[in-house]
Parts: sequence; structure tokens; C-alpha cells
Amino acid sequence: MDISSPTKVLFVCLGNICRSPMAEAVFTHMVNERQLADFFHIDSAGTAGYHVGNRPDSRSVATCKAHGVPVNHFARQVCPGDYEEFDFILCMDKSNLEDLMDMRPKGSKAVVSLFGAYDELKPNSIIEDPYYGGNKGFEVNFEQVTRCSEGLLKSLGF
Ligand code: 4NP
Repeated sequence: MDISSPTKVLFVCLGNICRSPMAEAVFTHMVNERQLADFFHIDSAGTAGYHVGNRPDSRSVATCKAHGVPVNHFARQVCPGDYEEFDFILCMDKSNLEDLMDMRPKGSKAVVSLFGAYDELKPNSIIEDPYYGGNKGFEVNFEQVTRCSEGLLKSLGF
């Protein structure tokens, strides 16, 4: 693996305040704990712009905090340049995937896929939108993004 060209991973959901900042935080934490930070550039974004500039949802932050995972992000929307910059654009549900494929510039080489593709326990699982539900949804999301992060690292040879 070449430190001079880190693998660039963008996590995407709808609003970029619940699932994708959680995925960004969990993957970043795992990478830091394994002293792999030099090998990655990690960010998150939303397909929609409703929450641009906002901090992550307090329930997402509380769930991460309960597991000792720090969260540090301001919401932003996916832009065409992301398809140039990132090697992997990993999203949470099929609607995110459809939106990302619709926005994808011609000739983009970024791998665009469900993050759940890396879930070894439940292959191709959907990481459901927790926004209108209770805290349990955030805990389920946390377990999923943890498994998917493990799977992603493994698939990259770490
Ligand atoms: P996220 O969750 O896509 O995981 O950030 C949502 C956040 C906000 C809304 C929907 C989903 N919303 O409708 O405002």
C-alpha cells in the first residue's frame, strides 16, 4: 500500500446528519486505532442539501459517544468533483445508490456501491434511515457500520 496516495473513501446517505457521519466516524476511529490513518482519506456527504452546514444528529453523536467513537463533521452535499476525488463512494440504501448513479459523471472511475456490500454477517444489507424512528435504529446502524468497516478494511488487505 502506498502512503503517498491514500485510499479515499466517501460515505453517503440522504441528509449527511445520521448514517454517513456515523460511518465516517466509525471507519476513521477503526483506522486510527489500527494506525492506518496514513493510508486513508475519509469524508461523508448527503445526496440532499437540507442539512448543509449542520452538525450530525444528536442521536447519532450520542450513539457513537456511548461506544467511545468521536464524531466531527459538518454536513455537505455530494458534488460532481467527489466522483473524481474519491476511490470509493459507499452509501447506505438503494435510494442513495440510485441518486448517486444518476449524478455520476461519465467516465468516473470511483467505485459506487452499498456500504452493506462489505457486511460479512448480512451481505448487501441496507443501512436503514433512522431519522423518524427511535434510538434503537441508531444502535442498529452503529452495529452495521462497524461490521461494514471491518469488511471494507479486510477487502483492502488490512
Ligand atoms: P441520514 O438521515 O440520511 O442518515 O442523514 C436523514 C436525515 C434527515 C432527513 C432524512 C434522513 N430529513 O428528511 O431531513
